[in-house]
Amino acid sequence: MKLLIPNQTGGDEFRVSLVPQGVRSLVPTHEIWVESGAGTGAGYSDDAYVSAGARVVDSETAWSQSDLVLVVRPPELSRVKQMKRESLLVGFLRPLDDLPYVQAVAETGITGLALELLPRITRAQAMDALSSQANLAGYRAVILAAERLQKIFPMMMTAAGTLQPAKVFVIGAGVAGLQAIATARRLGAVVSAYDVRPTVKEQVQSVGGKFVELSLEVSTAQEVSGYASAQSVEQQQKQAELMARVIAESDVVISTALIPGKPAPRLIPASAIRKMVRGSVIVDLAAEKGGNCEWTVPGQVVQREGITIIGYTNWASQVPTHASMVYSNNLIKLLGLILDKQGQLKLDLSDEIISGLLVCRDGRIVHPMLSKLLNLSTETGHNHE
Ligand code: NAI
Repeated sequence: MKLLIPNQTGGDEFRVSLVPQGVRSLVPTHEIWVESGAGTGAGYSDDAYVSAGARVVDSETAWSQSDLVLVVRPPELSRVKQMKRESLLVGFLRPLDDLPYVQAVAETGITGLALELLPRITRAQAMDALSSQANLAGYRAVILAAERLQKIFPMMMTAAGTLQPAKVFVIGAGVAGLQAIATARRLGAVVSAYDVRPTVKEQVQSVGGKFVELSLEVSTAQEVSGYASAQSVEQQQKQAELMARVIAESDVVISTALIPGKPAPRLIPASAIRKMVRGSVIVDLAAEKGGNCEWTVPGQVVQREGITIIGYTNWASQVPTHASMVYSNNLIKLLGLILDKQGQLKLDLSDEIISGLLVCRDGRIVHPMLSKLLNLSTETGHNHE
């Protein structure tokens, strides 16, 4: 099998799908191709890949002749169209965010596996790229907030006076939120957090956060999959009202609230931001999905009425060396499941991890959830939202 590591750097993307260490573990059974410059953004030179046993190939050969392409973000459609029909595309493909794209990928006839659809089960943890990247995003969000805040995070008792610790409020205590809580605690802040899934209360406490109790009806807030279920607009408004007091008292708000395949819930309205003390910072990790905060501008840092709102959209890519390293490890684990010892492809569809990841094959979308969404959008004449 010829495995390709494409160069996907550009814009805010600095990551690479497979790092040289990962290449080393695969070369005994595979031919590894790398597009020149693929790892440069993450600190891995072409030479490092060659030393690990990979071959640097030109882009045309790379896309048209490889058997398996490992991506860190959805590749351009023009590239996918160059791929051999019997080849495989594996990585983040954003199937729930861009259905027309995955449909176009499906039409090329290739087989596509989307990491976003990995079942959140214990056996799949080592392959869970959403978690590995979200974890780094949570860390990075706190570091950036600490840099922008005009105060320090820890309490300091000095001869020149006592400085009170910064107050950090984390909204959404999934993977990114929990890491944000832990990181802010390590820096000495006083941290509170809220999530619609009541089951996370103990997790928040175990990483040193105080769980904020809101008198909201949340009994149906968690799906069987472990994800939060979408709340109605009325519920969101009620939640925003109840959280406004906590937001007003916080120096930093880090919001991570997301519902898979849906726009981010709007939880921080302008009225709540206006009650914050000037110099406070909001970091909106949900910016890519529209943002939890009304003033978020996706991809940008804005200053408004004395408040800084950070709306970057590719957080893990800001620590590209480690982000690529863990993503690469996720892929190596997954490859262990879809390739046999001789390096041949074996897609065992009775395995829930493989059937869960499989988006398209033989010219059509085969994932039940995506097929359903596709039928819905065809019936209504709209893409799902
Ligand atoms: P996510 O990125 O989809 O959402 C982030 C957080 O926002 C979630 O905790 C969600 O409950 C919360 N949220 C949604 N709407 C909200 C609202 N209106 N207000 C406040 N919070 C809101 O979630 P992520 O981080 O991908 O984790 C999803 C689930 O998967 C979690 O239960 C996590 O523990 C679980 N998981 C399980 C793994 C496993 O192997 N068993 C591995 C990784 C995650």
